[in-house]
Amino acid sequence: MPVTKDDVLAALGKVAAPDGTPLPQTGTLSDIVASDGKVFFSISVDAAVVQAWEPVRKRAEDAVKAIAGVKSAMIALTAERKAGAAAAARPPQGGPAGAARPAHAHGHGQQQGPSGVPGVTSIIAVASGKGGVGKSTTAVNLALGLRDLGMKVGILDADIYGPSLPKLLAIREKPQTIGGTRLKPIERYGLTVMSIGFLIEEETPMIWRGPMVMSALTQMLREVEWGTLDIMVVDMPPGTGDAQLTMAQQVPLKGAVIVSTPQDLALIDARRGIAMFRRVNVPVLGIVENMSTFICPHCGTRSDIFGHGGARREAERLGVPFLGEVPLEMSIRETSDAGLPIVATHPDSPHAAAYRAIAANVRDQLGSGAAAKPAPRIVIEA
Ligand SMILES: Nc1ncnc2c1ncn2[C@@H]1O[C@H](COP(=O)(O)OP(=O)(O)OP(=O)(O)O)[C@@H](O)[C@H]1O
Ligand SMILES: [Mg+2]
Repeated sequence: MPVTKDDVLAALGKVAAPDGTPLPQTGTLSDIVASDGKVFFSISVDAAVVQAWEPVRKRAEDAVKAIAGVKSAMIALTAERKAGAAAAARPPQGGPAGAARPAHAHGHGQQQGPSGVPGVTSIIAVASGKGGVGKSTTAVNLALGLRDLGMKVGILDADIYGPSLPKLLAIREKPQTIGGTRLKPIERYGLTVMSIGFLIEEETPMIWRGPMVMSALTQMLREVEWGTLDIMVVDMPPGTGDAQLTMAQQVPLKGAVIVSTPQDLALIDARRGIAMFRRVNVPVLGIVENMSTFICPHCGTRSDIFGHGGARREAERLGVPFLGEVPLEMSIRETSDAGLPIVATHPDSPHAAAYRAIAANVRDQLGSGAAAKPAPRIVIEA
Protein backbone atom coordinates (compact mmCIF):
# COMPACT_ATOMS: atom_id res chain seq x y z
CA MET A 1 0.00 0.00 0.00
CA PRO A 2 1.55 3.32 -1.00
CA VAL A 3 1.91 5.88 1.75
CA THR A 4 -0.66 8.65 1.43
CA LYS A 5 -0.89 12.20 2.64
CA ASP A 6 -3.60 11.07 5.09
CA ASP A 7 -1.25 8.47 6.60
CA VAL A 8 1.27 11.24 7.16
CA LEU A 9 -1.34 13.56 8.68
CA ALA A 10 -2.52 10.80 11.00
CA ALA A 11 1.03 10.21 12.22
CA LEU A 12 1.61 13.93 12.67
CA GLY A 13 -1.57 14.15 14.77
CA LYS A 14 0.41 12.48 17.55
CA VAL A 15 3.15 15.10 17.42
CA ALA A 16 2.58 18.16 19.59
CA ALA A 17 3.68 21.73 18.87
CA PRO A 18 5.48 23.60 21.69
CA ASP A 19 2.08 24.76 23.03
CA GLY A 20 0.64 21.22 22.93
CA THR A 21 -1.49 21.61 19.78
CA PRO A 22 -1.37 18.60 17.45
CA LEU A 23 0.89 19.54 14.55
CA PRO A 24 -1.71 19.32 11.73
CA GLN A 25 -3.84 21.90 13.54
CA THR A 26 -1.13 24.52 13.92
CA GLY A 27 -1.37 25.92 10.39
CA THR A 28 2.38 25.62 9.97
CA LEU A 29 2.50 22.71 7.53
CA SER A 30 3.12 23.10 3.82
CA ASP A 31 1.56 20.74 1.33
CA ILE A 32 2.63 17.22 2.07
CA VAL A 33 4.14 15.34 -0.83
CA ALA A 34 4.13 11.56 -0.41
CA SER A 35 5.50 9.81 -3.43
CA ASP A 36 7.01 6.39 -3.85
CA GLY A 37 7.62 5.97 -0.13
CA LYS A 38 9.30 9.36 0.17
CA VAL A 39 7.68 12.11 2.17
CA PHE A 40 8.51 15.79 1.95
CA PHE A 41 7.03 18.81 3.63
CA SER A 42 8.03 21.88 5.53
CA ILE A 43 7.01 23.47 8.79
CA SER A 44 7.01 27.26 8.61
CA VAL A 45 7.13 29.18 11.83
CA ASP A 46 7.98 32.69 12.86
CA ALA A 47 11.73 33.28 13.01
CA ALA A 48 11.53 34.25 16.69
CA VAL A 49 10.35 30.81 17.81
CA VAL A 50 12.25 28.64 15.39
CA GLN A 51 14.51 27.11 18.05
CA ALA A 52 11.61 25.87 20.10
CA TRP A 53 10.32 24.13 16.99
CA GLU A 54 13.42 22.15 16.10
CA PRO A 55 12.53 19.27 18.47
CA VAL A 56 9.05 19.28 16.94
CA ARG A 57 10.55 18.94 13.46
CA LYS A 58 12.65 16.04 14.70
CA ARG A 59 9.66 14.30 16.32
CA ALA A 60 7.64 14.83 13.14
CA GLU A 61 10.42 13.28 11.11
CA ASP A 62 10.64 10.29 13.45
CA ALA A 63 6.86 9.86 13.37
CA VAL A 64 6.80 9.92 9.56
CA LYS A 65 9.72 7.53 9.27
CA ALA A 66 7.89 5.11 11.56
CA ILE A 67 4.96 4.81 9.10
CA ALA A 68 5.06 1.44 7.35
CA GLY A 69 6.19 1.93 3.76
CA VAL A 70 8.05 5.21 4.29
CA LYS A 71 11.55 4.94 2.89
CA SER A 72 12.69 8.46 3.58
CA ALA A 73 11.34 11.65 5.07
CA MET A 74 12.62 15.14 4.43
CA ILE A 75 11.09 17.70 6.73
CA ALA A 76 12.41 21.21 6.79
CA LEU A 77 11.82 23.86 9.39
CA THR A 78 11.63 27.23 7.71
CA ALA A 79 11.61 30.57 9.47
CA GLU A 80 9.12 33.08 8.17
CA ARG A 81 9.20 36.80 8.59
CA LYS A 82 6.07 38.52 9.73
CA ALA A 83 3.85 39.82 6.94
CA GLY A 84 4.82 43.19 5.50
CA ALA A 85 8.41 42.27 4.85
CA ALA A 86 9.55 43.34 1.41
CA ALA A 87 10.42 40.33 -0.65
CA ALA A 88 13.13 41.50 -2.98
CA ALA A 89 15.44 43.53 -0.77
CA ARG A 90 18.60 41.96 0.50
CA PRO A 91 21.90 43.31 1.76
CA PRO A 92 24.83 43.29 -0.64
CA GLN A 93 27.35 40.54 -0.18
CA GLY A 94 30.79 41.79 0.64
CA GLY A 95 33.13 41.78 3.55
CA PRO A 96 36.11 39.72 4.52
CA ALA A 97 36.86 36.48 2.72
CA GLY A 98 36.12 33.39 4.75
CA ALA A 99 33.78 35.11 7.13
CA ALA A 100 30.59 33.29 7.80
CA ARG A 101 28.05 36.00 7.47
CA PRO A 102 25.38 36.13 10.10
CA ALA A 103 22.02 37.43 9.02
CA HIS A 104 21.60 41.05 9.98
CA ALA A 105 18.23 42.53 10.50
CA HIS A 106 17.74 45.56 8.31
CA GLY A 107 15.28 48.16 9.36
CA HIS A 108 12.55 49.78 7.30
CA GLY A 109 10.52 46.58 7.11
CA GLN A 110 12.98 44.96 4.72
CA GLN A 111 13.44 41.22 4.74
CA GLN A 112 16.88 40.20 5.79
CA GLY A 113 19.08 38.57 3.20
CA PRO A 114 20.08 34.95 3.51
CA SER A 115 22.93 34.31 5.85
CA GLY A 116 26.14 32.75 4.57
CA VAL A 117 27.01 29.10 4.85
CA PRO A 118 29.66 28.77 7.57
CA GLY A 119 33.06 27.92 6.12
CA VAL A 120 32.10 28.83 2.55
CA THR A 121 33.75 32.02 1.30
CA SER A 122 31.79 32.67 -1.91
CA ILE A 123 28.70 31.15 -3.44
CA ILE A 124 28.04 31.77 -7.13
CA ALA A 125 25.16 30.67 -9.33
CA VAL A 126 25.40 29.34 -12.86
CA ALA A 127 22.12 30.22 -14.49
CA SER A 128 20.29 31.02 -17.70
CA GLY A 129 16.78 32.02 -18.54
CA LYS A 130 16.50 29.13 -20.97
CA GLY A 131 16.73 25.37 -20.53
CA GLY A 132 19.23 23.13 -22.25
CA VAL A 133 21.86 25.76 -23.00
CA GLY A 134 24.53 23.87 -21.08
CA LYS A 135 24.32 25.33 -17.57
CA SER A 136 25.03 22.09 -15.78
CA THR A 137 27.89 21.18 -18.12
CA THR A 138 29.33 24.65 -17.63
CA ALA A 139 28.80 24.53 -13.86
CA VAL A 140 30.72 21.25 -13.50
CA ASN A 141 33.60 22.22 -15.78
CA LEU A 142 33.78 25.71 -14.29
CA ALA A 143 33.98 24.16 -10.83
CA LEU A 144 36.82 21.93 -12.04
CA GLY A 145 38.53 24.93 -13.63
CA LEU A 146 38.36 26.75 -10.29
CA ARG A 147 39.77 23.65 -8.63
CA ASP A 148 42.67 23.78 -11.09
CA LEU A 149 43.32 27.35 -9.94
CA GLY A 150 44.02 25.91 -6.50
CA MET A 151 40.68 26.56 -4.88
CA LYS A 152 38.66 24.21 -2.71
CA VAL A 153 35.41 23.98 -4.60
CA GLY A 154 31.94 22.65 -3.88
CA ILE A 155 29.08 22.23 -6.32
CA LEU A 156 25.41 22.26 -5.39
CA ASP A 157 22.73 21.08 -7.75
CA ALA A 158 19.83 23.44 -7.12
CA ASP A 159 17.91 22.02 -10.07
CA ILE A 160 15.38 20.32 -7.89
CA TYR A 161 13.09 19.60 -10.83
CA GLY A 162 15.74 17.95 -12.98
CA PRO A 163 18.95 17.31 -11.07
CA SER A 164 21.93 16.72 -13.37
CA LEU A 165 24.95 16.22 -11.13
CA PRO A 166 24.40 12.50 -10.43
CA LYS A 167 24.71 11.93 -14.18
CA LEU A 168 27.37 14.53 -15.02
CA LEU A 169 29.64 13.20 -12.28
CA ALA A 170 28.49 9.56 -12.49
CA ILE A 171 27.56 9.52 -8.81
CA ARG A 172 25.35 6.65 -7.76
CA GLU A 173 26.08 6.36 -4.08
CA LYS A 174 23.86 7.98 -1.46
CA PRO A 175 25.30 10.56 0.92
CA GLN A 176 25.81 9.26 4.45
CA THR A 177 24.29 10.97 7.42
CA ILE A 178 26.40 12.35 10.23
CA GLY A 179 24.89 12.17 13.67
CA GLY A 180 21.51 11.33 12.18
CA THR A 181 20.74 14.87 11.04
CA ARG A 182 23.45 16.22 8.76
CA LEU A 183 24.47 14.89 5.38
CA LYS A 184 27.98 14.20 4.23
CA PRO A 185 28.42 15.40 0.65
CA ILE A 186 30.03 13.22 -2.02
CA GLU A 187 33.59 13.91 -3.15
CA ARG A 188 34.37 13.60 -6.86
CA TYR A 189 37.38 14.86 -8.82
CA GLY A 190 38.33 16.92 -5.80
CA LEU A 191 34.92 18.63 -5.74
CA THR A 192 32.51 18.48 -2.82
CA VAL A 193 29.15 17.64 -4.38
CA MET A 194 25.52 17.67 -3.27
CA SER A 195 22.40 17.11 -5.32
CA ILE A 196 18.79 16.39 -4.49
CA GLY A 197 19.25 13.68 -7.11
CA PHE A 198 21.34 11.72 -4.59
CA LEU A 199 18.34 11.49 -2.33
CA ILE A 200 15.58 10.60 -4.77
CA GLU A 201 15.29 8.01 -7.50
CA GLU A 202 15.54 9.24 -11.08
CA GLU A 203 12.02 8.03 -11.90
CA THR A 204 10.34 9.72 -8.95
CA PRO A 205 7.71 12.12 -10.25
CA MET A 206 8.68 15.52 -8.98
CA ILE A 207 5.55 17.20 -7.82
CA TRP A 208 7.41 19.89 -5.98
CA ARG A 209 5.49 22.82 -4.72
CA GLY A 210 7.01 26.19 -3.90
CA PRO A 211 7.61 25.55 -0.18
CA MET A 212 9.03 22.13 -0.91
CA VAL A 213 11.55 23.52 -3.35
CA MET A 214 12.66 26.05 -0.82
CA SER A 215 12.95 23.63 2.05
CA ALA A 216 14.97 21.18 -0.02
CA LEU A 217 17.31 23.95 -1.09
CA THR A 218 17.68 25.27 2.44
CA GLN A 219 18.46 21.78 3.66
CA MET A 220 21.08 21.25 1.01
CA LEU A 221 22.75 24.52 1.98
CA ARG A 222 22.49 24.29 5.74
CA GLU A 223 22.26 20.63 6.66
CA VAL A 224 25.14 19.39 4.57
CA GLU A 225 28.69 19.27 5.94
CA TRP A 226 30.27 21.38 3.23
CA GLY A 227 33.45 21.89 5.21
CA THR A 228 35.73 24.77 4.28
CA LEU A 229 35.27 25.91 0.69
CA ASP A 230 36.73 28.83 -1.22
CA ILE A 231 33.82 28.73 -3.57
CA MET A 232 30.54 26.92 -4.03
CA VAL A 233 29.11 26.75 -7.56
CA VAL A 234 25.32 26.42 -7.65
CA ASP A 235 23.78 24.87 -10.76
CA MET A 236 20.44 26.64 -11.02
CA PRO A 237 17.27 25.34 -12.65
CA PRO A 238 16.31 27.01 -15.94
CA GLY A 239 13.83 29.84 -16.09
CA THR A 240 13.14 33.12 -14.37
CA GLY A 241 9.83 32.35 -12.70
CA ASP A 242 8.91 32.68 -9.05
CA ALA A 243 10.72 29.51 -8.05
CA GLN A 244 13.99 30.69 -9.55
CA LEU A 245 13.57 34.17 -8.14
CA THR A 246 12.98 32.78 -4.67
CA MET A 247 16.04 30.58 -5.03
CA ALA A 248 18.18 33.48 -6.12
CA GLN A 249 16.97 35.26 -3.00
CA GLN A 250 17.33 32.37 -0.64
CA VAL A 251 20.91 31.44 -1.46
CA PRO A 252 23.51 33.95 -0.22
CA LEU A 253 25.00 34.55 -3.68
CA LYS A 254 28.09 36.65 -4.34
CA GLY A 255 27.44 36.62 -8.04
CA ALA A 256 25.89 34.89 -11.01
CA VAL A 257 27.37 33.50 -14.21
CA ILE A 258 24.88 33.54 -17.08
CA VAL A 259 25.18 30.85 -19.74
CA SER A 260 23.72 31.50 -23.17
CA THR A 261 23.97 30.07 -26.63
CA PRO A 262 24.71 32.74 -29.26
CA GLN A 263 21.34 32.99 -30.98
CA ASP A 264 18.92 35.84 -30.35
CA LEU A 265 16.22 33.77 -28.71
CA ALA A 266 18.56 32.39 -26.08
CA LEU A 267 19.98 35.86 -25.53
CA ILE A 268 16.54 37.24 -24.72
CA ASP A 269 16.29 34.60 -22.01
CA ALA A 270 19.81 35.41 -20.82
CA ARG A 271 18.72 39.04 -20.49
CA ARG A 272 15.74 37.91 -18.40
CA GLY A 273 18.12 35.92 -16.23
CA ILE A 274 20.32 38.97 -15.71
CA ALA A 275 17.28 41.09 -14.88
CA MET A 276 16.18 38.51 -12.34
CA PHE A 277 19.50 38.60 -10.49
CA ARG A 278 19.39 42.36 -10.60
CA ARG A 279 16.01 42.34 -8.87
CA VAL A 280 17.51 40.46 -5.96
CA ASN A 281 20.73 42.54 -5.98
CA VAL A 282 23.01 39.69 -6.99
CA PRO A 283 25.88 40.98 -9.14
CA VAL A 284 26.24 39.42 -12.58
CA LEU A 285 29.82 38.21 -12.94
CA GLY A 286 29.41 37.84 -16.69
CA ILE A 287 28.13 35.82 -19.61
CA VAL A 288 29.52 32.59 -21.06
CA GLU A 289 28.76 31.78 -24.68
CA ASN A 290 28.19 28.04 -24.91
CA MET A 291 27.89 26.01 -28.11
CA SER A 292 29.64 28.89 -29.73
CA THR A 293 31.26 27.44 -32.83
CA PHE A 294 31.20 23.96 -34.33
CA ILE A 295 34.32 22.53 -35.89
CA CYS A 296 33.54 19.48 -38.00
CA PRO A 297 35.57 16.57 -36.61
CA HIS A 298 35.84 15.09 -40.13
CA CYS A 299 36.73 18.00 -42.37
CA GLY A 300 37.78 20.66 -39.85
CA THR A 301 35.35 23.18 -41.33
CA ARG A 302 34.05 25.70 -38.88
CA SER A 303 30.31 26.37 -38.84
CA ASP A 304 28.45 28.67 -36.53
CA ILE A 305 25.35 26.60 -35.96
CA PHE A 306 23.75 28.97 -33.47
CA GLY A 307 25.67 31.97 -34.75
CA HIS A 308 28.78 33.20 -33.03
CA GLY A 309 29.69 36.15 -30.87
CA GLY A 310 26.08 36.99 -29.96
CA ALA A 311 26.73 36.62 -26.25
CA ARG A 312 29.89 38.74 -26.38
CA ARG A 313 28.00 41.54 -28.14
CA GLU A 314 25.13 41.20 -25.69
CA ALA A 315 27.53 41.39 -22.75
CA GLU A 316 29.00 44.58 -24.18
CA ARG A 317 25.57 46.01 -24.78
CA LEU A 318 24.48 45.27 -21.22
CA GLY A 319 27.75 46.35 -19.68
CA VAL A 320 28.49 43.00 -18.05
CA PRO A 321 31.79 41.12 -18.49
CA PHE A 322 32.15 38.50 -21.19
CA LEU A 323 33.71 35.48 -19.53
CA GLY A 324 34.56 33.36 -22.56
CA GLU A 325 33.19 30.91 -25.07
CA VAL A 326 32.95 27.14 -25.32
CA PRO A 327 32.51 25.50 -28.72
CA LEU A 328 29.76 23.06 -29.65
CA GLU A 329 31.86 19.98 -29.43
CA MET A 330 31.05 16.31 -29.53
CA SER A 331 33.66 15.42 -26.90
CA ILE A 332 32.09 17.88 -24.46
CA ARG A 333 28.70 16.24 -24.89
CA GLU A 334 30.10 12.74 -24.70
CA THR A 335 32.23 13.31 -21.61
CA SER A 336 29.44 15.26 -19.95
CA ASP A 337 26.82 12.61 -20.56
CA ALA A 338 29.21 9.83 -19.51
CA GLY A 339 29.92 11.48 -16.17
CA LEU A 340 33.53 12.18 -17.14
CA PRO A 341 33.73 15.99 -17.33
CA ILE A 342 36.26 17.17 -19.85
CA VAL A 343 38.30 19.40 -17.53
CA ALA A 344 38.92 16.41 -15.25
CA THR A 345 39.39 13.73 -17.87
CA HIS A 346 41.00 15.59 -20.82
CA PRO A 347 42.82 18.39 -19.05
CA ASP A 348 45.14 18.95 -22.02
CA SER A 349 42.32 19.50 -24.53
CA PRO A 350 41.65 23.02 -25.84
CA HIS A 351 38.12 22.73 -24.42
CA ALA A 352 39.41 22.15 -20.91
CA ALA A 353 41.61 25.21 -21.45
CA ALA A 354 38.52 27.21 -22.46
CA TYR A 355 36.80 26.29 -19.19
CA ARG A 356 39.90 27.11 -17.17
CA ALA A 357 40.08 30.52 -18.84
CA ILE A 358 36.44 31.12 -17.90
CA ALA A 359 37.23 30.02 -14.34
CA ALA A 360 40.10 32.50 -14.16
CA ASN A 361 37.78 35.28 -15.37
CA VAL A 362 35.19 34.32 -12.77
CA ARG A 363 37.82 34.41 -10.04
CA ASP A 364 39.03 37.80 -11.26
CA GLN A 365 35.50 39.17 -11.31
CA LEU A 366 34.91 37.98 -7.77
CA GLY A 367 38.22 39.42 -6.66
CA SER A 368 37.94 42.70 -8.54
CA GLY A 369 35.14 43.94 -6.39
CA ALA A 370 32.68 43.45 -9.25
CA ALA A 371 30.75 41.32 -6.84
CA ALA A 372 30.17 44.35 -4.70
CA LYS A 373 28.70 46.38 -7.54
CA PRO A 374 25.04 46.08 -8.39
CA ALA A 375 24.18 44.58 -11.76
CA PRO A 376 23.39 47.12 -14.49
CA ARG A 377 19.83 48.11 -15.14
CA ILE A 378 18.36 46.02 -17.90
CA VAL A 379 15.35 46.70 -20.02
CA ILE A 380 13.63 43.57 -21.24
CA GLU A 381 12.29 44.05 -24.71
CA ALA A 382 10.63 40.73 -25.27
N1 LIG B 1 29.64 22.99 -25.50
C1 LIG B 1 28.91 21.90 -25.69
N2 LIG B 1 29.12 21.10 -26.76
C2 LIG B 1 28.35 20.00 -26.98
N3 LIG B 1 27.37 19.60 -26.19
C3 LIG B 1 27.11 20.35 -25.10
C4 LIG B 1 27.86 21.53 -24.77
N4 LIG B 1 27.36 22.04 -23.62
C5 LIG B 1 26.36 21.24 -23.24
N5 LIG B 1 26.20 20.22 -24.12
C6 LIG B 1 25.21 19.15 -24.08
O1 LIG B 1 23.92 19.75 -24.16
C7 LIG B 1 22.98 19.05 -23.36
C8 LIG B 1 22.37 20.04 -22.35
O2 LIG B 1 23.40 20.49 -21.48
P1 LIG B 1 23.14 20.73 -19.94
O3 LIG B 1 22.39 19.63 -19.33
O4 LIG B 1 24.44 21.13 -19.37
O5 LIG B 1 22.19 22.00 -20.09
P2 LIG B 1 21.32 22.76 -18.99
O6 LIG B 1 21.24 24.17 -19.42
O7 LIG B 1 21.87 22.48 -17.65
O8 LIG B 1 19.94 22.06 -19.16
P3 LIG B 1 18.66 22.18 -18.19
O9 LIG B 1 18.04 23.47 -18.53
O10 LIG B 1 17.85 20.99 -18.57
O11 LIG B 1 19.18 22.13 -16.78
C9 LIG B 1 23.75 17.91 -22.70
O12 LIG B 1 23.56 16.75 -23.45
C10 LIG B 1 25.20 18.36 -22.78
O13 LIG B 1 26.09 17.27 -22.84
MG1 LIG C 1 20.93 21.67 -15.93
